[in-house]
Amino acid sequence: MTIKQELLDQLQKRTEVAQAGGGKDKIAQRHAKGLLTARERLQCLYTPDTFQEFGLHAQHDTRHFGMESKNLPGDGVVTGVGFVDGRPVAGISQDFTVAGGSLGSVHARKMVDVMDHAARGGMPVVTFSDSGGARIQEGVGSLSGYGSVFYHNVQLSGLVPQIAVIAGSCAGGASYSPALMDFIVMTRENASMFICGPEVIRSVTGQQCTLEEIGSPQAHMMIAGNIHFIADDDPGAVSIVTELLSYLPSNNMMDPPHNLEEELTLADDPVLDELVPEDPKQAFDVRRVIQHMSDRQRYLEVQRDFAPNIVIAFGRIGGVVVGYIANQPMIKAGALDIDASDKAARFIRFCNCFNIPIINLVDVPGFLPGIQQEQGGIIRHGAKMLFAYGSATVPKITVIMRKAYGGAYLAMCSRDMGADLVLAWPTAEIAVMGAEGAVNILYRKELSEAEDRPQKARELAAEYREKFSSPYLSAGQLFIHDVIQPSRTRRTIALTLRSLLSKRETRPPKKHGNIPL
Ligand code: HXC
Repeated sequence: MTIKQELLDQLQKRTEVAQAGGGKDKIAQRHAKGLLTARERLQCLYTPDTFQEFGLHAQHDTRHFGMESKNLPGDGVVTGVGFVDGRPVAGISQDFTVAGGSLGSVHARKMVDVMDHAARGGMPVVTFSDSGGARIQEGVGSLSGYGSVFYHNVQLSGLVPQIAVIAGSCAGGASYSPALMDFIVMTRENASMFICGPEVIRSVTGQQCTLEEIGSPQAHMMIAGNIHFIADDDPGAVSIVTELLSYLPSNNMMDPPHNLEEELTLADDPVLDELVPEDPKQAFDVRRVIQHMSDRQRYLEVQRDFAPNIVIAFGRIGGVVVGYIANQPMIKAGALDIDASDKAARFIRFCNCFNIPIINLVDVPGFLPGIQQEQGGIIRHGAKMLFAYGSATVPKITVIMRKAYGGAYLAMCSRDMGADLVLAWPTAEIAVMGAEGAVNILYRKELSEAEDRPQKARELAAEYREKFSSPYLSAGQLFIHDVIQPSRTRRTIALTLRSLLSKRETRPPKKHGNIPL
């Protein structure tokens, strides 16, 4: 017995209608703006012919809420699972051509169904947001839908990586689902995200602002720190997502995709000997150090334009995936401030969730002094770094390149904060404070009596460095493990990472710690 042709015809017709979304005209409008459709975004993400769609024929019964004439193909969202570089990844892509991609109860149900599938199968979730927000006609049904999506984002957090692409409008509470995920990529044109738009802000507060100022990718990256990457367009966003996924495990029970065929003993890299200037006041670009530490000199910087005084990035050393946290001496002399602390702390937490060893590159003069910093809660924010390092159980390796002063020495993961290996370069200065400040306190009398005060101060500073901040003093008391030539760093870390690959650190059971938020 074969299946009746009319049933097959019906299936084909229904499939075609559902796949057509809002229809040719609306699709043409999207293309004219340089945007891909919801389906095209997923096609771009997945290996051809690997996408299994869930809920193609789902749609709310519109008769119940005053949209009698509306057909809502797929209820305005395409969901399912496809393969990226041979690994399954759950995908959710909102279809703006269907009721503006607005979220109603069936739309939300489709989202949480595929999120549940991702949790059960242990695979990352990638979403493309392009939506007018809560579907107005569905009232509280759409709010409830958002609630269930947020709840699932929280349940998946730390279980599987979650990456959001903001590819169009993301209005109101819709931005909270991406905010609950691990990384947000935003496209440069046509994408916006806000809780209250310019019109609401004006009518409630009288303040005038543009969408550019509050909702653009630049505002979210450089000022608010809400997003992690800006892409040129939809295919650019997909390339970033794919590159990011290449460093991440599929779930928290797996190791990240290490490339252990890579050579175990690496050659010395003489360039590292030349990167740090002799003059401790002269800045250098720490990204050059990250580049030379990484296999094939490749790394992926995250949140490049937010709090650039700290650099966070993924890379591989001797094949082992690592997360870098590095002070950037070129910006604010690499000092830690509120934004840098938030940026680093969240990255440390992400690495720890997904078994990614952490490499800390230290050149830090301290926490940034200032009224704004104190009143803004630098104590609370800086404490996030201490908390994040202290609670991270992944391998942690610290390289003190130059300055490591005061609380910031601890906040960059000293041995006492749980580092498995602390190395210092001969240029390192490890002390309670910098030489100039310390000399002013310790040698006030000598300085006031000196004929040539600046000269005396320089001499005393040199003496202080030798007496109180030399890396050999720290090595002598085992505060650090070794002092090494910079060119040996990559090789030393590669070997240590291999020896720590099966590191297991257990802590007393508890519900969770209480990170200062
Ligand atoms: C139902 C919606 C909709 C919505 C858009 N549409 N938003 N339908 N509910 N929220 C429909 C439009 O009626 C239109 O249908 C189609 O989508 C395209 O919309 P346009 O306005 O023509 O497109 P465009 O000019 O590009 O403007 C896009 C937009 C705008 C900026 C997103 O539509 C907009 O401002 N929408 C409302 C945004 C908003 O305030 N949402 C609620 C946020 S509050 P037709 O049939 O004409 O094609 C919220 C609460 C969630 O989300 C709380 C969770 C905690």
